Amino acid sequence: MQISKCLFPVAGYGTRFLPATKAIPKEMLPILTKPLIQYGVEEAISAGITTMAMVTNKYKSAIQQHFEPHFELEKSISGAKSGLLAEVNEIIQTCDFTYVEQPQMLGLGQAIYTGKNLLGNEDFAVILPDDLCTNSAASVLKQMTGVAAKYPDCCIVAIEEVPLESVNKYGIIAGEELEKGIFRVNNMVEKPAPEQALSNLAIIGRYILTPEIFAVLENTPADKNGEIQITDALLTLAKQGKVIAYQFQGKRFDCGSVQGFLNANNYFAKKAAFNP
Ligand code: G1P
Repeated sequence: MQISKCLFPVAGYGTRFLPATKAIPKEMLPILTKPLIQYGVEEAISAGITTMAMVTNKYKSAIQQHFEPHFELEKSISGAKSGLLAEVNEIIQTCDFTYVEQPQMLGLGQAIYTGKNLLGNEDFAVILPDDLCTNSAASVLKQMTGVAAKYPDCCIVAIEEVPLESVNKYGIIAGEELEKGIFRVNNMVEKPAPEQALSNLAIIGRYILTPEIFAVLENTPADKNGEIQITDALLTLAKQGKVIAYQFQGKRFDCGSVQGFLNANNYFAKKAAFNP
């Protein structure tokens, strides 16, 4: 089944980038000249998705504005510079954008649950735009849709190996390797201490979820910080054999950290220099 909708949980405050993110959503910070959120939307489009569902908050209207036409600006740059808005205008013309406000930040699971009414009763993708992914061939989400087609009724999470000392920043999985780089998950833990980690296979911000996840989220208790974690909800489905972890091809930058954001900018700058 073609996945047609992608959820973007973008309500977070981006505190690691303050003061830059006081008035500007962290998803609008640019990698070269393109905001992070646009990279995420382009990845969704590359996987055949045309509806972008944003879970946002009232301070982040710049995201919505970015995906709306700006006729005055277009008029003022007509001529030599008109191409500068071509990519985003193409996105605006071909995709639908829907929005819902997340009143309180109570974990990724709760953010995804908040988007329920935007999604309907079908499989959907989730992109965390902080995790910027790039690949010379098929995008990470496109690769995942291929895996989803092979494992119907399963949720798919993208994983990569991380250094053991970093496991406490991620959801960590354990599972049985079914084929190269594809695991049936049998256990998963959100942000374990390195000495308690099940493995060094970390979930990165790409998911394909079945609508079953919503009923599970309703019954998933909050963690010790009062947050509802998608990892905990997925564990319920993993115990039924319904979660697949996929070690993707490509590169990921953790643009939620200043270092990762710098690395991404340097990487894309180098690439642009070779291919201006
Ligand atoms: C979230 C998830 C975590 C996942 C990570 C990927 O954490 O809860 O399981 O590994 O995204 O970036 P966050 O980075 O929002 O704290």
